[in-house]
Amino acid sequence: MIWGLFWLLLGNALAHFSCPRNCLCGPLLTDCRFANLSDIPQGIAQETETLFLNENHLTQVPPGAFQPYTNLTFLGLSHNQLSLRNDTFDDIGKSILSLDLAGNSLTELPAALFENTKKLVWLNLAENRLSALPGKIFAPLERLTYLDLSQNRLQLSVNMFRGLSQLGTLIVAGNHLHTVPAGAFEPVPNLKVLDISNNEISTLPENLLENLTNLDDLLLDNNGFKTIPLSAFTILPTLEHFSISGNSIQNIPPLSFTGHSSLRRLDLSNNLVSDLPSRFFSLLKQLEFLNLSRNNINTLPGDIFVNNTQLAFLHLDRNQLHAMPIFSGLQRLRELTLCCNGIENLPRAFSDKMYELELLDLSNNNITETTGLNSNITQVILAGNPVCTNSMVFKTHC
Ligand SMILES: *[C@@H]1O[C@H](CO)[C@@H](O)[C@H](O)[C@H]1NC(C)=O
Ligand SMILES: *[C@@H]1O[C@H](CO)[C@@H](O)[C@H](O)[C@H]1NC(C)=O
Ligand SMILES: *[C@@H]1O[C@H](CO)[C@@H](O)[C@H](O)[C@H]1NC(C)=O
Ligand SMILES: *[C@@H]1O[C@H](CO)[C@@H](O)[C@H](O)[C@H]1NC(C)=O
Ligand SMILES: *[C@@H]1O[C@H](CO)[C@@H](O)[C@H](O)[C@H]1NC(C)=O
Ligand SMILES: *[C@@H]1O[C@H](CO)[C@@H](O)[C@H](O)[C@H]1NC(C)=O
Ligand SMILES: *[C@@H]1O[C@H](CO)[C@@H](O)[C@H](O)[C@H]1NC(C)=O
Ligand SMILES: *[C@@H]1O[C@H](CO)[C@@H](O)[C@H](O)[C@H]1NC(C)=O
Repeated sequence: MIWGLFWLLLGNALAHFSCPRNCLCGPLLTDCRFANLSDIPQGIAQETETLFLNENHLTQVPPGAFQPYTNLTFLGLSHNQLSLRNDTFDDIGKSILSLDLAGNSLTELPAALFENTKKLVWLNLAENRLSALPGKIFAPLERLTYLDLSQNRLQLSVNMFRGLSQLGTLIVAGNHLHTVPAGAFEPVPNLKVLDISNNEISTLPENLLENLTNLDDLLLDNNGFKTIPLSAFTILPTLEHFSISGNSIQNIPPLSFTGHSSLRRLDLSNNLVSDLPSRFFSLLKQLEFLNLSRNNINTLPGDIFVNNTQLAFLHLDRNQLHAMPIFSGLQRLRELTLCCNGIENLPRAFSDKMYELELLDLSNNNITETTGLNSNITQVILAGNPVCTNSMVFKTHC
């Protein structure tokens, strides 16, 4: 209803803009997504700054096709079947800032493709079939801050990212990578977000990340790590988010998180962790989110979280806890999930000092009585426990 009105008003306001058939247009915007186009359409307004041609059947950009659009800053060409030439984007090279080329089955890129698009800040090449890139292809892109190369078949090389001195986000997830060569990130010292997940990496070179002094987010999910790649992380004082779920981590060296005092989110889920020593997370004083679900934990030391006074989200689903751990130091906890363990009893008053607890998920355990439950918790889930079949009292939680 509201959208209908919106489009009606927009349509009226813009009736005088030129707009290709099957497209939607706004001031400075032409949206031809899903328009069944085989060619770049006629009638795109010259003043267009944002042009979506995604999700069509385009196979080529004829020379001069973009020439009229001298103010174009965003060009979306994802999910077509394009092939590219050295000069495909030359006509818009003086204005273009963002280019989306994802999902085009590209197997290679012409060496000079970005030679004349020096203003680019955002480039998406995900979901193609790129296996190698010409030597200095990114070298002209000194302003690029975002590069998505995920879901290709690339190998990384030492010179691949030369020139990208402003790059803040690099996504190389899903490339079947087995390794990352030492020095690969040397040309990109300003990285804040590095996503290497969904590859086949089991080790990283010593000191690979040592000069990434601005790194906030490091994602290593779904690889083949058997241990936390310790040496790589001892010198990342700014890291706020570290995710290494879906690996085969069994033992975590005691000093793994030395020097990570700014870490706020830690995801160790879906690994083979069984033992965590006393006070293991005590150096992570800023930790707000911890996911330990889907591991083999059967017991946790009572003082494991003593110094994690900021921890608000703690997930321990699908482990092998039989007794409910008693935690001290978690007075800021808002969500505690313990689904699918074998927990039998709730210790008396275990949650009494968790003054801010909003969600306690104890579903699918073996709980027969709930005398330990603090009545101030907003939502308690007890479904799938004997207490639900044996007693009517707790029905609201079942
Ligand atoms: C898409 O375009 C082709 C020809 O280019 C046409 O045969 C087909 O009917 C169109 N499909 C739709 C859904 O409009
Ligand atoms: C491009 O933008 C400038 C400044 O806003 C404007 O003067 C010019 O007319 C625009 N060019 C086109 C082709 O719309
Ligand atoms: C594209 O540019 C590269 C580097 O300048 C050059 O070697 C190559 O021959 C060009 N390709 C074509 C098809 O012109
Ligand atoms: C980090 O920087 C130092 C000094 O510039 C350099 O010697 C070293 O090779 C760099 N390390 C990596 C892994 O790039
Ligand atoms: C915790 O990890 C598990 C397993 O990887 C995942 O399914 C779940 O969504 C995660 N929980 C949160 C809140 O992110
Ligand atoms: C943990 O907190 C206690 C009490 O606040 C403090 O005495 C202790 O030094 C802290 N431990 C670490 C490793 O920071
Ligand atoms: C639940 O606990 C009872 C004893 O209290 C035990 O006999 C039973 O095997 C447990 N069930 C599961 C699924 O762990
Ligand atoms: C529940 O909240 C009330 C009001 O904030 C407080 O007085 C009481 O002590 C709380 N009870 C528990 C068991 O935390």
